[in-house]
Amino acid sequence: MATHFILVAIAIMALASRLVSASDPSQLQDFCVAVKDSKSAVFVNGKFCNDPKLATANDFFYSGLLTPQNTSNPVGSTVTPVNVMQIPGLNTLGISLARIDFAPYGLNPPHTHPRGTEILVVLEGTLYVGFVTSNPDNRLFTKVLYPGDVFVFPEGLIHFQFNQGKTNARVLPLEHQNLCHYHC
Ligand SMILES: *[C@@H]1O[C@H](CO)[C@@H](O)[C@H](O)[C@H]1NC(C)=O
Repeated sequence: MATHFILVAIAIMALASRLVSASDPSQLQDFCVAVKDSKSAVFVNGKFCNDPKLATANDFFYSGLLTPQNTSNPVGSTVTPVNVMQIPGLNTLGISLARIDFAPYGLNPPHTHPRGTEILVVLEGTLYVGFVTSNPDNRLFTKVLYPGDVFVFPEGLIHFQFNQGKTNARVLPLEHQNLCHYHC
């Protein structure tokens, strides 16, 4: 009888711990608007939080993402980030947005976000995109994307986007940043 009770208790504890570890812990506050200028040595997930009473709608706002960017550079692509540096209210929320402009044959060179999964939507142009799985398989997944297409680059995997068309291309990538506030 006692053995039976212990087994049931262990089963419940195992189930509970599985439930608990199913996702990241939630935040302890509604938000943590980043203080713009902090030279102190202490950090809270990257940035200090401003006094919540001082927060305004503009702490959660950015404008101008529809403005085409200059792609006259060696790779022919320009990333316009919209992370905590542009929107202080994004601090600790684990998500960010960007815009990438591509000249014809422009490339967003292979890179990784060690703690960020990326999902992007193509607004304009034709892009050849891909990612490589980790060792030992190193499988290459690629796809040609057209406007309206959406593609996912799983967290930590090397990925790239190449404009294979003769016209400009634009994409909007959204990044989920696990335990990270920007530059993941
Ligand atoms: C784009 O950038 C290049 C290189 O910096 C510069 O020479 C050119 O004037 C810029 N074009 C525009 C329209 O700003």
